[in-house]
Amino acid sequence: MEVQRTLRQLRRQLYGLRAFVPGWRRRHKLEAMVGPLGFWNQLQRYQLQATTHLGLRQHHTLLDIGCGPLQGGIAFIRYLEPGRYVGVDCNPTAIETGHEEISRQRLTGKNLACWSLTVSATTN
Ligand SMILES: C[S@@+](CC[C@H](N)C(=O)[O-])C[C@H]1O[C@@H](n2cnc3c(N)ncnc32)[C@H](O)[C@@H]1O
Repeated sequence: MEVQRTLRQLRRQLYGLRAFVPGWRRRHKLEAMVGPLGFWNQLQRYQLQATTHLGLRQHHTLLDIGCGPLQGGIAFIRYLEPGRYVGVDCNPTAIETGHEEISRQRLTGKNLACWSLTVSATTN
């Protein structure tokens, strides 16, 4: 147990160092927004596998609430037909980073929608 905890801490610290490595900075920034560090690809795959297992198909429309910088979003955008992905998040920085990722992955032609949305409610 103690060994496992130490290894986890070591792993976290090593991942933290990527923030200082030029080729890894961008990935680190993305992972730090959603956490945990070092699992971006696994969590991306997991989200797509879980939703398709539950019945998501390419012609469906997906509303991704709390899409963040598009960890799952990028996989959904790739999988879904154009115009079928809508992502919203209350954090404008995450949305901005997500848009950068869409461009980097050359997915702009997918005609998706991705917004930062802040909803405030008042009660009488
Ligand atoms: C752990 S991140 C998950 C990001 C993304 N779904 C992914 O693929 O990993 C949770 C996200 O939910 C967003 N969020 C939290 N509360 C929210 C709310 N009330 N409305 C919209 N977004 C929200 C946060 O800004 C954050 O980006």
